[in-house]
Amino acid sequence: MTALERIEAVVSLHAALDRTVSSSELPFDADALPPVTCEVVELPAPMPLPACGFPDVLQARRSRYNPAADALGADEISNVLHHSLVSSPTAGGMRELTLSFVLSRPGDELGAGVYRYARGHAEVVRLGDVREHLRASLLQPEFADVFPVLLFVVANVEGPLEKYAMRHYRTMHVDAGVLVQNLYLVTEAMGLAGCAIAGFTDGRVASLLNLATTQLPVMAFALGRPS
Ligand SMILES: Cc1cc2nc3c(=O)[nH]c(=O)nc-3n(C[C@H](O)[C@H](O)[C@H](O)COP(=O)(O)O)c2cc1C
Repeated sequence: MTALERIEAVVSLHAALDRTVSSSELPFDADALPPVTCEVVELPAPMPLPACGFPDVLQARRSRYNPAADALGADEISNVLHHSLVSSPTAGGMRELTLSFVLSRPGDELGAGVYRYARGHAEVVRLGDVREHLRASLLQPEFADVFPVLLFVVANVEGPLEKYAMRHYRTMHVDAGVLVQNLYLVTEAMGLAGCAIAGFTDGRVASLLNLATTQLPVMAFALGRPS
């Protein structure tokens, strides 16, 4: 198989698996999404994580479902994204995973909308209230109501599939699992509240995040402050 054939096969396998889950019954009108922008915003430089014991963080880690109503600061979002990504190993050192985030509750520095994290800054994908689209993308829409931020782990399949066989599709999900565990641990170490989310519809998330066909949403993670 050529690299192009492997990429096409993985993209269609991912779509076929997505079709085995029924979408939310909430309507999703892609044409009503705020337009795609090409703005960039600088994020605050990441700060060192608080000095807390690894056993304490590991044992305290939980999935949280009832965060406070507050927005998060850009410094907190930047810290979670930076530390989770840089401390995550990936098979073959491939950098196929990226993080996008949807801000439902605007803070002082970042408006509501969709962002793509790019180490040190964020590309503003869409500015505006996308909460209804987010709710309709999730199998548990309440995550969009209670959490101020939802992160999405996106796998860019082109790079790895130019190098590896189609079987790497499986390994990419292991990479995503490693990243999700780091999201949990960094969130806990920072005194924030988080929850992994596998229940979403890829096609809707891809529209919301304005993903290319070779960028596959593989996991989500809700982020907030403990109540
Ligand atoms: C890969 C993964 C996917 C998950 N997806 C969901 C989800 O879609 N919805 C949800 O409510 N919880 C989800 N969770 C949270 C689990 O239900 C939770 O981790 C599990 O019940 C154990 O609880 P704990 O994390 O507090 O130890 C997910 C967790 C993982 C690791």
